[in-house]
Amino acid sequence: MFDVALVLVAIALLLVVVGGIQPLAARLRLPSTVLLAGFGIAIGAVSSAAAHSALAGHFNVAGRLFQELPVTSETIIYVFLPLLVFEAGVTSDVRRILEDWAPILLLAIVATLVTTAAIGFALWPLGGVPLVVCLLLGSVVATTDPAAVIAIFRDVGAPARLTRLVEGEALLNDAAAIALFVVLLAMIVSGREPNVADGAREFTVAFLGGAALGVVAGRLLLFAISWLGGDRLAEASLTVALAYLAFIAGERLFHVSGVVTVLAAGLTVSALGRARISPYNWAFLGDLWEQIAFWARSLVFVLASILVPRLLVSMDRHDLLLMGVLIAAAFVARLFVLFLLLPPLSYFNLTQPIGTPYKLAIAWGGLRGALTLALALAVSENRALDPATHHFVAVLATGLVLFTLLVSGTTLRPVIRLLGLDRLSTRDRMLRDQVLALAYEEVCEAVRDTAKEYSLSDDAVRETVGPYQQWIRAAGARDDAEAGLTGRARLAIALLALANQERALVLEAWSQRTAAAATVQVLLRNADALIEGARAGGRLGYRRAARSSLSFRFGFRAAYLLYKHFGVARLLAERLGERFEALLFTRLLITELMGFTGRRLHPIFGARVAGLARDILTARLDATATALEALRNHYPDHAAALETAFLRQSASRREIGRYQALFEEGLIPREIYDDLRRSVDEARLAARRPRFDLGLDTARLIGRLDLLSGLDQNQLARVQRLLRPQFAMPDERILRQGDRPDAVYFIASGAVEVRLGGGQRIQLGSGSFFGEMALLTNQPRRADVVSLTFCRLLVLRKAEFEKFMAENPDARAEINRVAQARLEMNRRGLAVTAGQ
Ligand code: CMP
Repeated sequence: MFDVALVLVAIALLLVVVGGIQPLAARLRLPSTVLLAGFGIAIGAVSSAAAHSALAGHFNVAGRLFQELPVTSETIIYVFLPLLVFEAGVTSDVRRILEDWAPILLLAIVATLVTTAAIGFALWPLGGVPLVVCLLLGSVVATTDPAAVIAIFRDVGAPARLTRLVEGEALLNDAAAIALFVVLLAMIVSGREPNVADGAREFTVAFLGGAALGVVAGRLLLFAISWLGGDRLAEASLTVALAYLAFIAGERLFHVSGVVTVLAAGLTVSALGRARISPYNWAFLGDLWEQIAFWARSLVFVLASILVPRLLVSMDRHDLLLMGVLIAAAFVARLFVLFLLLPPLSYFNLTQPIGTPYKLAIAWGGLRGALTLALALAVSENRALDPATHHFVAVLATGLVLFTLLVSGTTLRPVIRLLGLDRLSTRDRMLRDQVLALAYEEVCEAVRDTAKEYSLSDDAVRETVGPYQQWIRAAGARDDAEAGLTGRARLAIALLALANQERALVLEAWSQRTAAAATVQVLLRNADALIEGARAGGRLGYRRAARSSLSFRFGFRAAYLLYKHFGVARLLAERLGERFEALLFTRLLITELMGFTGRRLHPIFGARVAGLARDILTARLDATATALEALRNHYPDHAAALETAFLRQSASRREIGRYQALFEEGLIPREIYDDLRRSVDEARLAARRPRFDLGLDTARLIGRLDLLSGLDQNQLARVQRLLRPQFAMPDERILRQGDRPDAVYFIASGAVEVRLGGGQRIQLGSGSFFGEMALLTNQPRRADVVSLTFCRLLVLRKAEFEKFMAENPDARAEINRVAQARLEMNRRGLAVTAGQ
């Protein structure tokens, strides 16, 4: 039996130390894991020395304290692992990861396999253990902890996309490595002959099965949360429960990878949760998980490193040799991935090209952390394995962790400096100057306003704003003296300032709840892309990012394919609704940015640059308005509903502001104020955002076809049964020349272009139809038909076409007439009219 009080004291003391280490690490500019590991090793050394020495009576208490902790590898795996993995999933930005899914997935899975194989085969000839055990060690050390590298990348202002790539890779990397670890461990324990095909199959099942299970679990959680009425404590409790239930269900019930299950559940909650959980609660959830994961990570670190001295004592010369091989193999594998696998990806434009200094920094910063220690511990306590395996895996894995922490971790900053990644380029320095100048201008303006409001003397104002203005002038002179200060560079910086301002405006809209969460994410992503574009490519980069923000992204395309091939309309409707709102907001944002250009950019950058920036904004505004118009034409009702929702939000914001003023002036008592506020909040919550409806109701669409306007109720009802609604995206090829005919299409809204051989193009708008000629003549399609805008079509399949023609003589006559005229026209090679 252990003494509960002693255990609690030990844990509390650990927390004291763990808390103290954070500020210390920040001061020493070292990754905090380095200090945690050092601390753990120190405790381990002291307590084992104390246990062996009769003299050190004082230390005996400390020794007993930590040796009595009921922490086994099982505790670490079951208690801490689900927490660590769930947190990594739930706090990551899934949409961002999805944008770079190809390189991330490839890197994560391939890198894990390459590292495992490289280490396994390098150690096999020397290790004196079977190959599977060497591979097992490889999978244990294949997980990397990117926190240290990312922190430094943020400090030196590395491109955001690069940071995301490292983050995303490490996230999936862990899952892949652990899934592989479990498969290999099972192979060793069962004593089977290792078999690559079996291994690959088990790995795939464990990985994909876990992913599917996790997505289901995450969705179940969100469903449950919708019943909780927005109670943040209840919501947070459920997420903690989910982490454990998903892990154990995956491991014990479904026999898939528990870690992958937890990760997928976390990612699902992160992707879909932001829109279902209120922003306030979401922030709480994020904070809570940060705290939980911090404790879990720190405790794993300290607890595992307490065991290190014992392991190190048992190390012999042969182990040292193996250590050397392991370190070399781990680095070579990492370099292989970065220098040989990444370039083809950037060649195919799947990822941003990454410069050599960054690659070297990523390789050097591949620290191994809590997960490696936890897995090593799990191996060392697994009774089904023999002592040689225990020793081999535990000693080498811990050794590598120590090496990466004590050598790479402590030298990472100097290495970054050596690689020149920490120097601000001229451009970045100028950028910083300009950003500061903008901020100082704002400060001066606020000071003047305050002075005016309180009738303060001009002298006081001059005293206060003097230093700021001096700084602005000095920065201006410095930049003017800079040889590289071409007009182009100035414009690039102005655009960067604009993009930064855009981001700030989006965040403001978010804090005021004028836009839905999903829309805010789209807008933020656009603003980030603009920032990156302006940073990397100046004016061209900004314009490219602006263009691509209007294009249809992966999520949209995926939703459309789901609709097209499986008839799932909801996701498409959601994406379209999102696009609608995002476009509406982008237009507002650009209008505000125009004002910003006049007010702030003009004084700092001069008339020419400000004029150019305004031209670029105008072009953006036009393109946005066109895209918005394309949607508004089809869905005027939704546009109106969105605008109303927007105005309502700002109205209730004003209302609350008013009440607050009344309350602060003492005109209404607290209870009444609270009551009023609550009623506004409730009304705000109840007023759901308008749901987007694809508008594919056959009866309504039929009403838009002149061809069928003469039909009576009875006929209409019959026709309605024959027609099927279909949605089409701009630029979609609906018919292909030479195909066998299968249907006729009526355009209920939108426009298409008929592309005849010989370059002739004819546009058809709402009310007209196409695809009839091939059916009537029983020949292949004569032309390509491509949609120009969003289209809502009514499709009449071949079998129903004949019925339709037989039942509706008027329509038949008209269709025949048009087909005849088109035939005639094509024969003469003349496209006289568009339309009919
Ligand atoms: P089909 O040949 O089935 O497929 C291509 C379609 O393009 C064709 O039917 C017509 O509906 C349409 N089309 C072909 N020629 C013309 C034309 N001159 N004017 C308008 N539409 C045409």
